[in-house]
Amino acid sequence: MNGRPEPVLITIFGANGDLAKRKLIPALFNLYHEKMLPESFRIIGVGRRGDRDSWVADMREGVDKFSRRGKPDEEEWKTFSDRMQFLFGNLEDPALYKAVSKVVADDEKELGRNINRIYYLSIPPGLISQAVKGLDGAGLSKNRQHDRVVIEKPFGRDLESAEDLNKQVMEAFEECQVYRIDHYLGKETVQNLLAFRFGNALFEPIWDRRYIDHVQITVAEDVGVEKRGAFYETAGALRDMIQNHLLQVMCMIAMEPPVSFEADEVRNKKVDVLRAVRSIPHGELYKYAVRGQYGAGYSCGEVAKAYRQEEGVDPQSSTETYAALKLYVDNWRWQDVPFYLRTGKRLPHKVSQVSIEFKPVPHQIFPGTAGDHWEPNRLIINIQPKEGIVLRFQAKQPGKGMRLQTVNMDFYYDEAFHVEPPEAYETLLYDVMQGDSTLFMRADQEHVAWSLIDPILQAWTNTPSADFPNYPAGTWGPEAGEALIARDGRSWHSMPVDTH
Ligand code: BG6
Repeated sequence: MNGRPEPVLITIFGANGDLAKRKLIPALFNLYHEKMLPESFRIIGVGRRGDRDSWVADMREGVDKFSRRGKPDEEEWKTFSDRMQFLFGNLEDPALYKAVSKVVADDEKELGRNINRIYYLSIPPGLISQAVKGLDGAGLSKNRQHDRVVIEKPFGRDLESAEDLNKQVMEAFEECQVYRIDHYLGKETVQNLLAFRFGNALFEPIWDRRYIDHVQITVAEDVGVEKRGAFYETAGALRDMIQNHLLQVMCMIAMEPPVSFEADEVRNKKVDVLRAVRSIPHGELYKYAVRGQYGAGYSCGEVAKAYRQEEGVDPQSSTETYAALKLYVDNWRWQDVPFYLRTGKRLPHKVSQVSIEFKPVPHQIFPGTAGDHWEPNRLIINIQPKEGIVLRFQAKQPGKGMRLQTVNMDFYYDEAFHVEPPEAYETLLYDVMQGDSTLFMRADQEHVAWSLIDPILQAWTNTPSADFPNYPAGTWGPEAGEALIARDGRSWHSMPVDTH
């Protein structure tokens, strides 16, 4: 991160919510601790519960529990929290935005005019257009340079609603003022994909269909839907994870080199990938997309209930908690190289990983027995929990005769840099303050990502799955997920718990 941003006023709508408590305030506090917040800043929480004191106490609990640094120093927390204000109000009430506008004006008197004003909408998707209209109506969107709005995912729930929402956002703000969050893009290892690919001469020449057999992207979670059942019922794995996080990671792997590290340069190249994704042939969806829902089972050694038994979930629910896709990117670099994507809740453990499998050697010179344990070269990019990169290749086993064995050459963040990488939200909030939108979704990216997913969503909605639940909690998903890749003579790479 480069230096301290200009003075800023951050207004969080949805201040009583989980995101503010688990992520936003801990991230802002860590930035403060690292002197990455400006000297002059204010945080205004807008919520529908309690008052300033109860809100600050609740946020403090969030920092204690969820901050990567653990409990804060009392003195430091005090100076930070002295800058926290609270506004009680209902997002549907225009008076709320007038009140925000008054607080903003008062704070500006102290901090100076033309400071940056960030409006963070951490609110249910159905309220976003209301909030954007409210901000606009109160004159809080007018300054192209200083007024910025941050919109949490999901941005819409299908192509049509995303388009509608975008229209409304664009009536109030200009594209350069809008920061659509996909927190995966703030993860250190995801950003490192760009450094790895474009900061090294070694890999780029082999980064294509001539050398790469296929790519696997896995984002597995051991948790179920926790307390978010009611929300998750309206989402499902395809909307919640694939439309955004997994497709964005895929873009980082598949994009062409940008001309520079400018926000729009990078985003143009990413959008090109999505535009090149092949449409799924009519009537062949089952070969390209698989869904699953967890039943009862065991997760991390404990009994886990079925999705349909979770709080807020319809006991007949047909919402998928697992989704896997096979995609092709139709361009010169990637023609006919499959990208397998999978994600799910209540899988055996939490891991996010990209695994790139290279083609086998063109001719084996060693006797058959030498290669009993032979496997193709693989590049594994661990996004979490143990951030790092591993290259797997063949080495001669010590001893007489020639026997090959696969070994690892690895790089791990904590060992190489001896620092803990920042949380995604720290990076993203800092970037909004700096006005850098490289790691945020542009309207056209959202559009094309939804266009890709929409036909699958529609097909799945029209034909609810007859076999749900189809995988027990604590397993790697339904059999159909294995079949999706096995049909091509491949298999999902195993993901042992990282005990490195
Ligand atoms: C969110 C999803 O975007 O990402 C959640 O809505 C999911 O359902 C979360 O649990 C996973 O994020 P992370 O950073 O824990 O991998």
